[in-house]
Order: sequence, then structure tokens, then C-alpha cells
Amino acid sequence: MPDSNPVAPAETIQPEVLISHAIEAARRAYAPYSNFRVGAALLDDQGHIHYGCNVENAAYGPTNCAERTALFRAIADGNAPKSFKAMAVVGDTPGPISPCGICRQVISELCAPDMPVILANTAGTYAVTNIAELLPGAFQLEP
Ligand code: THU
Repeated sequence: MPDSNPVAPAETIQPEVLISHAIEAARRAYAPYSNFRVGAALLDDQGHIHYGCNVENAAYGPTNCAERTALFRAIADGNAPKSFKAMAVVGDTPGPISPCGICRQVISELCAPDMPVILANTAGTYAVTNIAELLPGAFQLEP
């Protein structure tokens, strides 16, 4: 289930609104090993927002980043790949957070190349980009 009632027509959401949801999502992080909380807020085509947070593990490798948590959750809730309208990601970083390589590959699989990806920090500094810029030449099975 999404975390919100529809917030607005999906095309009109302000970056600051999606960032504030990502900050709320970060509060749910399970990060006892790094103490680095990350939140993601994924806007679907019905105007609903899906929250993701990082979920760590004592074996480290099973750790799931906030971006993947939001995307996997939204897919499991029935949203179609590449139907999403925007994603915001927030971490306590000096500038906008930079998604890891695994998350970039997953975003490239499940989001349109030009979908706005809003990278932010908890102070509200943000940059708007997309996965075509974040991962040029992403691996895909079909050319
Ligand atoms: N992390 C994310 O959730 N997203 C990112 O974009 C970067 C890193 C998490 C993984 C781990 O739980 C913690 O941040 C430190 O790497």
C-alpha cells in the first residue's frame, strides 16, 4: 500500500513536497551498523507516494538501500515498471545524495530514462536529474 492519499496530480508535485516525504521515510530506516539513514519517496501515476528506507543487516551484504526498498515495494503493490512519475532521495550528506551503483541499475530497469530523480540532503539542498544521466550505458538484456 502507498503511504499517502493522492497528493496532487502527479505532474504537478513540487520537489520540496516529495523531499519532505523522503525525509519522513528516512525516519523509518533500520541502520544500526552505519547509522546513516536514507529515505526515498516514489510518486506513482495515481499521485500516491511509496516510502523506502535503508534496511541493514549484520551480514552487511543483504542490506537494501532506500531507493530499492521504495521501488520493490511499489512494484509488489501492483505498479507497473516505468509508470512512476518522480523519486526523491534524501540523506544526511553535505550536498545532494549520490545513489549507489546497484540502485542506479535498478532505477534504470524500473523507471523511465527521463523520470525526474530528485537528489537531496536533509538541509534541503537538491538537484534534479534522471537515470539516463545517472547511469549512461546501463546494462539491459535487450538492446
Ligand atoms: N544507502 C542508501 O540507502 N541509499 C544510497 O543512495 C546510498 C547508501 C544506504 C546503504 C547503507 O544502509 C547506508 O546507506 C550506508 O551505506
